[in-house]
Amino acid sequence: YLLPGKETAVLKMYGFSVPEINYLKKQFSGKKETVKINRLGLWQIIISFKSGSKGPDVLEKLRKAGCDTVSFMNREKIDRAGFTDLSGCSDMAKAFIEGFVLGNYSFQKYFTDKEKTKNTVAELGVLSEYVSSGEAGIIKTVCDAVYKARDLVNEPGNMLTAQKLAGEIVEMGKTSGYHTEVFGKKKIESMKMGGILAVNKGSIQPPTFSVLTWKPEYAVNRKPVVLVGKGVVFDTGGINLKPGKSLEGMKADMAGAAAVAGCMYILASLKVPVYVIALVPATDNRPAQDAYVPHDVIFMHDGSTVEVMNTDAEGRLLLADALSYAKKYKPELVVDIATLTGSAHAAVGHFAAVAMGNASGKWFAKLKKSSEKVHERIVEFPFWDDYKELLKSDVADMKNVGGAHAGAITAGKFLEHFTDYPYIHIDIAGPGYLTKTDSYRGKGGTGTGVRLLADFIMNLY
Ligand code: BES
Ligand code: ZN
Ligand code: ZN
Repeated sequence: YLLPGKETAVLKMYGFSVPEINYLKKQFSGKKETVKINRLGLWQIIISFKSGSKGPDVLEKLRKAGCDTVSFMNREKIDRAGFTDLSGCSDMAKAFIEGFVLGNYSFQKYFTDKEKTKNTVAELGVLSEYVSSGEAGIIKTVCDAVYKARDLVNEPGNMLTAQKLAGEIVEMGKTSGYHTEVFGKKKIESMKMGGILAVNKGSIQPPTFSVLTWKPEYAVNRKPVVLVGKGVVFDTGGINLKPGKSLEGMKADMAGAAAVAGCMYILASLKVPVYVIALVPATDNRPAQDAYVPHDVIFMHDGSTVEVMNTDAEGRLLLADALSYAKKYKPELVVDIATLTGSAHAAVGHFAAVAMGNASGKWFAKLKKSSEKVHERIVEFPFWDDYKELLKSDVADMKNVGGAHAGAITAGKFLEHFTDYPYIHIDIAGPGYLTKTDSYRGKGGTGTGVRLLADFIMNLY
């Protein structure tokens, strides 16, 4: 983004010759926004946006330009870049850096010849009047957290059991500074978390329930904000087995868990002065052993009864136990995030998450603001009590599925039953995992929710 009106002077200052400047100007006066010049293997890439506005759209364009740049470098097998910021705008420079770093992610763990497959780019030097080294450090922490979340999502089900997921969460806490307590099967049994236990019946792997705490003494809030993340490490559907194609991507059914862990990693690393708890109930969902079956009636953690009508609607059973457990904190606000329904995916595709809840408009407005800023967009769905009618069971307090329609909302209403505090539910079934590359979000686990929740919490008070 060359300071408007000062292009010639600026380019001269950076050593471009007059013919080069004329060439660049000609390119930029057309539709072109990026021009690459090869100086005997030393590439110079000039990116120029004419738009003077600094709204969220321009920031997203810059993230994409960052990703395009790093992708080009990897194709050319380049290892280092220096970024000279001439934008005169801190947010724009930061967006470019963020897109560059996020776009350089790749999941290499299971390639035996990593030297061949890994990205070559290893370093980005930043020269900017408007990005301090402290701010660059914040971007690095945020991107680290997104990388960690993506790693967890990309980890296959045979590697990432519930216990392994809990172990990874503990490690992230040790690095960043939050505290983790992991409840095992015995403790989950003693707490009568019948939702988690029912889903876990088909598995030989024990379930876990992780409690992540970030409570700095300088916290500005007394009542905590509680985050809850769905941690289904693989969702086969259980006895209501998913058909072939729909099993694909189900290793990502713990993307909500990855998002809250990533968010906590940022809050603790940056010592954000907010008291936050995160809960991660985790298990796989399988049709083996004495797996739960349709019509089973289960007793949930809060004592209510649920008739299981579909074993593939397992996420809400795990989350329900975590949501009623959250009551003990008398939270200011609870936000859960989950790859919960195909219905949310069908409604908005992978371009947005679906959000709903009974929390006041001021919370939603803040969430919306963060979502636009970090470009993890949300679409608010209705949350009328009419939808709850669809969950009436003949034999128990509720059944775990509604009718054929509005599946994302009936799932949300099911969860609301287990709350007694202001509540927001975020369904990331669409954007949590991608089967095709989408700019810096990449392919596979995206880490959706990490930047959204972290920005939201940092701007709450
Ligand atoms: N994990 C799935 C939801 C999902 C679908 C996530 C597609 C990502 C992509 C969830 O556990 C599920 O299977 N939900 C069912 C609920 C239904 C049985 C009421 C669904 O959405 O089909
Ligand atoms: Zn399912
Ligand atoms: Zn699921």
